[in-house]
Amino acid sequence: MQALRTQFLKTMGIQPWVLRENKPIADENPWEALRCAVQQCNACGLQKTRTQTVFGTGDPAAKLMIIGEAPGFYEDQQGEPFVGRAGQLLNAMLEAIGFTRKQVYIANILKCRPPNNRDPLPEEVNHCTGFLEKQIALIQPAVLLAVGRIAAHYLLNTKTSLSQIRGKVHTFGKLNTALVVTYHPAYLLRNPVDKQKAFLDLQLVSRKLGRDCEH
Ligand code: URA
Repeated sequence: MQALRTQFLKTMGIQPWVLRENKPIADENPWEALRCAVQQCNACGLQKTRTQTVFGTGDPAAKLMIIGEAPGFYEDQQGEPFVGRAGQLLNAMLEAIGFTRKQVYIANILKCRPPNNRDPLPEEVNHCTGFLEKQIALIQPAVLLAVGRIAAHYLLNTKTSLSQIRGKVHTFGKLNTALVVTYHPAYLLRNPVDKQKAFLDLQLVSRKLGRDCEH
């Protein structure tokens, strides 16, 4: 009967009527669809130990996107990336080049906290980075800033040491998005002597964005 009705309407050139409730709202908004997919993900096993997923935060139209490693204890508790001590340093690093957290977009390679903050496993990275790639595709930032080895190695598909890949502009993806690598703020908390080099990397980001750095 339904098929006959559809055929009849088609013959008359009328678009068949479809119940709106059948269409999930998430389909209409790519950000909501992605957020739902992340929230429901149980692909790698980290859902067993996470408190919640940590999607990302900031301006979805940001020119600068920061990519970290994975949520830690506080991020897992609060559902937002970089809210712990490393996050406070990241905020200060951003301020040094004239940005607030709200003016950039911040996301991680993994959306779930690995137990005891261990390094992400290769299969976790494989399962999760599709989400990050969609975030990058939706935002289309002018510059990506990878903080730390895990993010840098994934985005550059390399195992080269961070000290060799920081301090220059690389590119990422089909859009050849400018990509700068710097030290992870958690590393800088332990090794403040490298803050000077991190500042040089941030100035590089600032120049790439065509902004004058005040300092
Ligand atoms: N370290 C990261 O890489 N990401 C966070 O969100 C917090 C700490």
